[in-house]
Amino acid sequence: MTIVKKVLQISPSIAAGNLMNLASEVAKLELSGADSIHFDVMDGHFVPLLTIGVPFLEQIRKITKMHLDVHIMVTNPDQVFEHYLDAGADTLTFHIETALHAHRICNRIKEKGKRAGIALNPATHWREIEFLIPSLDQITLMSVNPGFSRQAHIPMVQKKAFEIRQYCNNLGIDMDIQLDGGVNTDNIAAIAQAGANIVVAGGAVFNYDDFGAAVSALRKAALAQG
Ligand code: DX5
Ligand code: ZN
Repeated sequence: MTIVKKVLQISPSIAAGNLMNLASEVAKLELSGADSIHFDVMDGHFVPLLTIGVPFLEQIRKITKMHLDVHIMVTNPDQVFEHYLDAGADTLTFHIETALHAHRICNRIKEKGKRAGIALNPATHWREIEFLIPSLDQITLMSVNPGFSRQAHIPMVQKKAFEIRQYCNNLGIDMDIQLDGGVNTDNIAAIAQAGANIVVAGGAVFNYDDFGAAVSALRKAALAQG
């Protein structure tokens, strides 16, 4: 069975943006050609920083139809995940390192008609979630240690993407593999060739005034042959 190569999607992480002007950042993203908005929730416990949560997600949901790719970096996903679904998440990604009942969470996300994602820290082997794969729409591979944007990319995570893409292709599973952290125009081609089909872009987009040009530069760089 051949899996059609998936077109690379760009998901800018709004937590790396100007949080004092969220509405205008969202409006600019809508015109940028980005495929979704990555919404990083950090609880100050699983990761050092505390960012934005349900109230901000509810407000963003009211002003945009863009796909909201919500990434919850929290110590208690079992307790809080449904709040993010109700607040408007289209994809909800939680960490295998903190979930007590990951299979149950995935099933509940899909019962609500949303996309289920699991995130793996750099040190977590993907075989930890092998039995979860049939329940997933997306696997997010952290290519930085979570908690901050604008960190350096950890290239070894590309090998994880390659192994998962091989595993899924062999089983005919059409999985979205997202790389999250330190993605830029220098490494995006290697990331795409490794098998990721979604990349999160914090600094690579929000360090620039022209989000459209930044997104186009990433797309162009992704096509450059390594
Ligand atoms: C890190 C977050 C990432 C990060 C991406 O904990 O999950 O989404 O904000 O930002 P960059 O692309 O700048 O690494
Ligand atoms: Zn993230």
